[in-house]
Amino acid sequence: MEVLDGLPPDHPDAIRSRRDLRRVHHAMGTRGIVLRGLRAMTARHPKARPLRVLEIGAGDGSLMLGVAQALTPSWSGVDLTLLDRQALIDPRTIAHYSEVGWAVTQEVGDVLDWAADLGGNAVHAPWDLIVANLFLHHFEGAQLDSILRFVAHKSLGFFACEPHRNWLALAGSHLIGAIGVNHVTREDSVLSVHAGFNGHELSALWPHQGKLWNVQEYSAGLFSHCLRAERTGLTGLNG
Ligand SMILES: C[S@@+](CC[C@H](N)C(=O)[O-])C[C@H]1O[C@@H](n2cnc3c(N)ncnc32)[C@H](O)[C@@H]1O
Repeated sequence: MEVLDGLPPDHPDAIRSRRDLRRVHHAMGTRGIVLRGLRAMTARHPKARPLRVLEIGAGDGSLMLGVAQALTPSWSGVDLTLLDRQALIDPRTIAHYSEVGWAVTQEVGDVLDWAADLGGNAVHAPWDLIVANLFLHHFEGAQLDSILRFVAHKSLGFFACEPHRNWLALAGSHLIGAIGVNHVTREDSVLSVHAGFNGHELSALWPHQGKLWNVQEYSAGLFSHCLRAERTGLTGLNG
């Protein structure tokens, strides 16, 4: 468990550490990595209806806001749901989303509860796209399996950007104090890299459901590791 997960949400060190995440994303180049991933996945999405996007473990929603602003004006009219177990989204952030034409719904809840309630085994995909940033590495074993099963049942595409577990990212995590983050963020950065992913670890866990999914796993930037899964055929996001 990371240090932040053990602190009350309103603890000053927790508030500061959540704010630090913006600096961490800047250092990791996360926004550009997510942008490239999403653009590639939705290139042929029919414009006839809004894209329905769910971010799991969305935090304060600021990372996706940066993505939304960079996608303007080519993407407008996105229906975005931000799910987190804490209510962290500032009303000003929601207002900024509406400025770029994205309608935001905030859901406060545990992704594991959502995952436990699949509603039978039939695939029903209310989301065109599910996105996870610095989130999957919080889970392992049966919990991670259940989140991936939920995502594969409920979406046409999934994009995750997680810490890359290698020596460079580990060295970077030990030096992260240089960007002015607090002790919680410094400790959690190292823990995150240890809990991160490498090689084809995420694809190996992906519930393929036969050959319905095209799955790519790759390192991105200096410190990130991504999974891109797209449902293939006529029912897919790009189909
Ligand atoms: C490292 S932060 C990442 C936030 C955001 N995705 C970003 O990249 O800026 C992880 C987030 O996951 C949330 N989280 C952790 N476990 C969760 C769970 N079981 N269900 C929903 N959210 C969870 C935390 O509250 C936190 O906001």
